[in-house]
Amino acid sequence: RAGGDPAITEIQDWNRYPGDGVDVRPYGAPSQYEAHVVRRSVPWLTADPISSVNFTPLHELDGIITPNGLCFERHHAGIAEIDPAMHRLMIHGLVDTPLVFTMADLMRFPRENRIYFLECAANSGMEWRGAQLNGCQYTHGMVHCVMYTGVRLRHLLEEAGIRGSAAWVMPEGADASAMSRSIPLEKALDDCLVAFRMNGEALRPEQGYPLRLVVPGWEGNMWVKWLRRIEVGDKPWHLREETSKYTDLLASGKARRFTWTMDVKSVITSPSPQAPVTHGKGRMVVTGLAWSGAGTIKRVDVTVDGGRNWTTARIDGPSLPMALHRFYHEFDWDGSDLFLQSRAIDEAGVVQPTKDALRAARGENSIYHNNGIQTWHVAKDGVVENVEIS
Ligand code: MTE
Ligand code: CO
Repeated sequence: RAGGDPAITEIQDWNRYPGDGVDVRPYGAPSQYEAHVVRRSVPWLTADPISSVNFTPLHELDGIITPNGLCFERHHAGIAEIDPAMHRLMIHGLVDTPLVFTMADLMRFPRENRIYFLECAANSGMEWRGAQLNGCQYTHGMVHCVMYTGVRLRHLLEEAGIRGSAAWVMPEGADASAMSRSIPLEKALDDCLVAFRMNGEALRPEQGYPLRLVVPGWEGNMWVKWLRRIEVGDKPWHLREETSKYTDLLASGKARRFTWTMDVKSVITSPSPQAPVTHGKGRMVVTGLAWSGAGTIKRVDVTVDGGRNWTTARIDGPSLPMALHRFYHEFDWDGSDLFLQSRAIDEAGVVQPTKDALRAARGENSIYHNNGIQTWHVAKDGVVENVEIS
């Protein structure tokens, strides 16, 4: 370049002057140049931001861990700001001894650290009737994946003594929505955690500080935040969130209920509508995320020609059950139109379905459990759009 590259030839301020000292940022924040990497909402989706959702900026992230400040939020009655000294967890119902735990009590039980994804059952729900939202943040951003630290729910239930007739538990939140769901006792005793940390630090208020239930691989709405009560019973409670909501109305007029497990799913996060191709033809990195409520991801296939040819993508980073998996597909772009898709296969051998196959099986009345294959069209100028091909 004539005159040289100013990034090399000119001395920049950061090179000329000393920067902030160690006391200026006691709790760190991202670079000012990353200010666009934020959770975003879709204002027309909900009537009020208090019972609403914002979305994880998946197109700006890499690896499998979601930074705490970018985990999507879904609240039914806003964020409860709880003083941990005033927080209690009660376990009662079909137990020998009803118990109340303070946060300090919980800290004296053995802790475990587990990395899990949380996906809202409504993730991709706006796409049932066709391509609608232009960006993976909006089509797939109701998912996050962090390392939880907590106590096995099993230990707390056993401390109270589970009665022989017990078969279900009902966790309840301390927020104004008192969010509750029925969970089979078998799941509660298997891998559920009562968590107080995410990625090493205390839970964020948005994520249920000081205490949340972790229900690995299952619908996000069962992961009760601001957890204050667990009732043990012998049958499900048939609560609002499992009758009017979080059920799937089929074409026949019947509704599926208690569809707990999140199905095998994947999405290409870059390129994507909010992450267009700006470098022209030649070397290109396609990357995305895959996950399954049934365990690990065995394989991810990627196509650049709308499904005519599939290549096995490279999974990189940890492959953990019920956690996000990161995949890459590197190739040489000839500059022509692309139809990018990814297709995940989980350890149970279940293959992510096409959207057409899903609609054939479940009709188009559904909101929840849309795990269909996503298509991005990449135009010659690098602009990316949400499309469907059949
Ligand atoms: N727990 C309480 N107490 N109140 C809520 O509104 N929302 C549920 C669940 N737990 C909710 C809750 C729903 S629908 C989802 S998808 C997840 O929390 C979202 O978790 P997040 O906000 O950490 O992403
Ligand atoms: Co949800």
